[in-house]
Amino acid sequence: MIVLGLESSCDETAAAVVTAEGEILSNVVLSQVEEHAPFGGVVPEIAARAHVTQMDRLVAQAMKQAGLEFSDLDGVAATAGPGLIGGVLVGLMTAKSISAVTGAPLIGVNHLEGHALTVRMTDKIAFPYVLLLVSGGHSQILVVEGVGKFRRLGTTIDDAVGEAFDKTAKLMGLGFPGGPAVEKYAAKGDENRFSLPRPMKGKPGCDFSFSGLKTAVRQCLESLGDHVTEQDKCDLAASFQKAAIESLLSRTGQALKIVRSDHPDCQNVVIAGGVAANMALRKNLDALVQEHGFKLVVPPPALCTDNGAMIAWAGIERLQLGLTDTLDMSAKARWPLDPDAEPAPFAGYKA
Ligand code: KG4
Ligand code: ZN
Repeated sequence: MIVLGLESSCDETAAAVVTAEGEILSNVVLSQVEEHAPFGGVVPEIAARAHVTQMDRLVAQAMKQAGLEFSDLDGVAATAGPGLIGGVLVGLMTAKSISAVTGAPLIGVNHLEGHALTVRMTDKIAFPYVLLLVSGGHSQILVVEGVGKFRRLGTTIDDAVGEAFDKTAKLMGLGFPGGPAVEKYAAKGDENRFSLPRPMKGKPGCDFSFSGLKTAVRQCLESLGDHVTEQDKCDLAASFQKAAIESLLSRTGQALKIVRSDHPDCQNVVIAGGVAANMALRKNLDALVQEHGFKLVVPPPALCTDNGAMIAWAGIERLQLGLTDTLDMSAKARWPLDPDAEPAPFAGYKA
């Protein structure tokens, strides 16, 4: 079984061809970082236009690299949400066109399910497992019980953790995307110099909050006045990173206690999303997960950030269960993985 997967929900245009054995025949990703960098964040209209311009070319490239014709495909998958709606429409409409012409079934994939299932392609792990999904748009802890079956234990009540990294970098003028820059500066800084809050640490439940931490970073920076040195930036990046990681670890620890009692068969914890590339987070999380008697499984960094292979793979998992979609499927800006989960306590809730 061979599926083409398209991704265009944020600032990467991507197309990939994957087999049911988990072999990635091609995986082409075009980042729009340069288009958005002058604005310090993703501009939805610029993103949508860039997806329109590039998607056809990337699909052709992915098919050529895989050495296949459209008639060889058993399915065409595309992210159908959640995400920036202009971009989502581009990938979904492209997939619909290919499906209409070739007759290969359409699979509209939830982008978050793409992140959640990637580890079954790379490491062949069984359900259930715990997923810590940490990206620019999402911070969630879920139990992945099966294809389309998720139990959300926690989500952010305001900003996503990647957003906090990006905003911290922007405040200090470190460039976009901020996560890798903050990590680089943090490596040269004193993580104990600035005293920053550990949002939600020790509170009941598993929800996250990062907007207070971002405000504290801004106040610290303001207190330094006009002459902020490179060392000040390194120290603030290190202090921020430590606070963000401690907050993530505290919430994950709470979730693991719940999972230990509710899912005694669960052995693995998976981390996915762009922030999973952060080495300090991985190291600390690995220790925490082991303390709780679980094993940490991390897909390769290129498959943690947005890509087409994760969408193609989710398409394969769904196709194998007969879960295909019709050509009238709509693109969705919001699409929670666990619609039955209680909404997060405050208005900043993100699908
Ligand atoms: O999953 P992703 O590529 O896109 C979505 O948001 O869906 O994640 C991008 C996010 C950005 O906020 C970026 O700053 C963050 O992941 N990120 C990192 C690192 N690399 C990327 N955050 C912390 N440390 C990193 N090394
Ligand atoms: Zn993503």
